[in-house]
Amino acid sequence: MILVTGGAGFIGSHSVDALLSAGFSVRVLDNLSSGKLDNLPKHPRLSFVQADISDAAAVDAAMDGVEAVLHLAAQVSVQASIESPAFSAQSNIAGFINVIEAARKHGVKRLVYASSAAVYGTPAQLPLDETSPTRPLSPYGLEKLINDQYAALYRELHGFSSLGMRYFNVYGPRQDPRSPYAGVISRFIDRLQQQAPLTVFGDGGQTRDFIFVKDVAKANLAALQSSLQGVCNIGTGRSVTLLQMIDSLGQAASRGLQVDHQPARDGDIRESATQVTRMNQSLGVVASVGLIDGLKELVASC
Ligand code: UD1
Repeated sequence: MILVTGGAGFIGSHSVDALLSAGFSVRVLDNLSSGKLDNLPKHPRLSFVQADISDAAAVDAAMDGVEAVLHLAAQVSVQASIESPAFSAQSNIAGFINVIEAARKHGVKRLVYASSAAVYGTPAQLPLDETSPTRPLSPYGLEKLINDQYAALYRELHGFSSLGMRYFNVYGPRQDPRSPYAGVISRFIDRLQQQAPLTVFGDGGQTRDFIFVKDVAKANLAALQSSLQGVCNIGTGRSVTLLQMIDSLGQAASRGLQVDHQPARDGDIRESATQVTRMNQSLGVVASVGLIDGLKELVASC
């Protein structure tokens, strides 16, 4: 039995699909604050518990009979973490401790959890790798870094096996464009559907590593089955500018796209890129969905 916290969410529900396809039994724990039951299939090997990770007793009960945990439940909005740091820490630090401690007590063999590229802040040198300096720019990024430190401590103290997944820019079906953490691609899809121009903050020359959510689910599955310890950057290893991404989106949607430029966002990171050697070689996963193909699948799903 694999416990997936946040399993009704965007990355969570795709990971549940991958786990079910691989033959696992899955228990989802989700408070449905941003996840949706509609994201989950009806399946004989899938069960659901509605609970919050800040409820230690509920987390403890959900560990019964579990061999590995995929912990994705979190307060996911960077902006909310700046506005309400104590509330954010309640989920992202206290909730994490509830999960890792309950897992340890129940003799769970493996924890894979959502860390984030946000731990790096503005990169001093590109491409990033797992040894790059961390300098988070928000409580959210700091909370994820603290998760990584707790996981390292649990390895030292208890020999507890875990891997933190430092996701870069994940896109794909089921990402809610109105959610506070909606990435640029889901916003653009929403604009496209409304036949409205795409808003580009700045000149569009900023770069990001966009990874398709099914590749992320594949990496999560491999991480649960691997014994790799520490943290692992999760991306494609190929960054593109926003304007290049818009060009690919135009090709995927088979239409020309109108763009409206607005001033650059405060605190926006200009360039982001990661090496994926650890993901490719140690985890044995290569992101295989190209940007145009991923965007086509996303457009078709709307
Ligand atoms: C992500 C976080 C951000 C955080 C940063 C730090 C999300 C949605 N964003 O930002 O809060 O500070 O990591 O790690 O989780 N853009 C547009 N038009 C739009 C939306 C975005 O031009 O309508 C631009 C942004 O200015 C940015 C790029 O697209 O340059 C990507 O934006 P986004 O998807 O928000 O991701 P990050 O900037 O990586």
